Amino acid sequence: MSRYIYFLILLSLLTACSGSQKEENFSKEIKFTVSQFGNISALGLKPNQIPRTIDKDNKLTTVGVYNWTSGFFAGNLWYLYELTKDNKWKEEATKWTEALDTIQYWTGNHDVGFIIYNSYGNAYRFDDRKDYKDIIITTAESLSQRYNPKVGLIKSWDYRKAWDGKTEWFYPVIIDNMMNLELLFEASILSGNPKYKEIAIKHANGTMKNHYRDDYSCYHVIDYDKNTGEVLDKATCQGYSDNSSWARGQAWGLYGYAMCYRYTKDKKYLDFAENIANYILTNESTPEDLIPLWDYNVNQKGFTPEWNYDPNSYSEIPRDVSAASITASALFELSEYSQKSDLYTNAAIKILKSLSGNYLADPAKDKYFILGQSVGSFPHGVEINVPLVYSDYYYLEAIYRYNKQLK
Ligand code: GLY
Repeated sequence: MSRYIYFLILLSLLTACSGSQKEENFSKEIKFTVSQFGNISALGLKPNQIPRTIDKDNKLTTVGVYNWTSGFFAGNLWYLYELTKDNKWKEEATKWTEALDTIQYWTGNHDVGFIIYNSYGNAYRFDDRKDYKDIIITTAESLSQRYNPKVGLIKSWDYRKAWDGKTEWFYPVIIDNMMNLELLFEASILSGNPKYKEIAIKHANGTMKNHYRDDYSCYHVIDYDKNTGEVLDKATCQGYSDNSSWARGQAWGLYGYAMCYRYTKDKKYLDFAENIANYILTNESTPEDLIPLWDYNVNQKGFTPEWNYDPNSYSEIPRDVSAASITASALFELSEYSQKSDLYTNAAIKILKSLSGNYLADPAKDKYFILGQSVGSFPHGVEINVPLVYSDYYYLEAIYRYNKQLK
């Protein structure tokens, strides 16, 4: 059955390849976003109460500025401003962006790229203020403190243990870290200092070499020896098993390499992104609507979780809408550079239509987000089948990128 579905997906994308399927601008979804985000504004949240998801009673769950997702809400508001041109959203976006200014000095985690680029990076597109520019550059400097030239990669997390409770990770680098390179590339342009771009390129090359398998799927975590750069462990933290393909990780990689091509024009990144896209779009476990399971290898032979997994805990394997929205946005970017432009545009449109058709939040239960049915971390048992602020971010970005292509 799965081979048949795989064949159908490829056939429909290839058939569509004779021309792209651009026809609508998702204005209904933008109106829905205005209404959902309006419900958040009405809550009168403090700057350290940043929306992330909802709890089991459908109440809004928030995080503080040091959480890796703290920049997405401001980013969502910037995209909503861009899509509606309503100044109200610009004012909100500015407020939530400026609440994050202390993060520029934080060296405790790689996530400063996510936090500052999605907020201040977007803000700077509208207001090229010197203070915003300085914050982006200072953040790049802080992130660079986590780069060790002996390893040639940025350390994502500090010391911790793997799921087996025994294996120690000293210099763990996760695929998600590809997303922080955008801030570094941009900081080199803004500051004229090539150092940040050089670090980004080293990181992208090291990730290509050690995170990726021959089929262009990737591991989640690679641990390194900080003195020799030797690979010590290849594992997962949020995926099904150490050797499996965690869906969001595949999407981070696709987005990351398409973005590396944008800044370098080095064809090896374009080829790499196309190969990752091929893995995602033609995977046997990719459902017909292109919204992936939370991991491509759940319950498959040869994949054994280290964490405590109950295969009967869900009647159906949960999808991860966040992986789909990141992939859609990345595919629109890839379509700008690739010879197979229509293939990627059509796949991205198909994902957007699936999300808009079947995965929108139900406003009776979820009054604050656009999309439902994402997975934060299945192994940790947290945020399963829920809205997540970052799913909305890449969905809005994908709609923005799509509308830009329509013009
Ligand atoms: N960057 C963390 C995650 O994707 O869950």
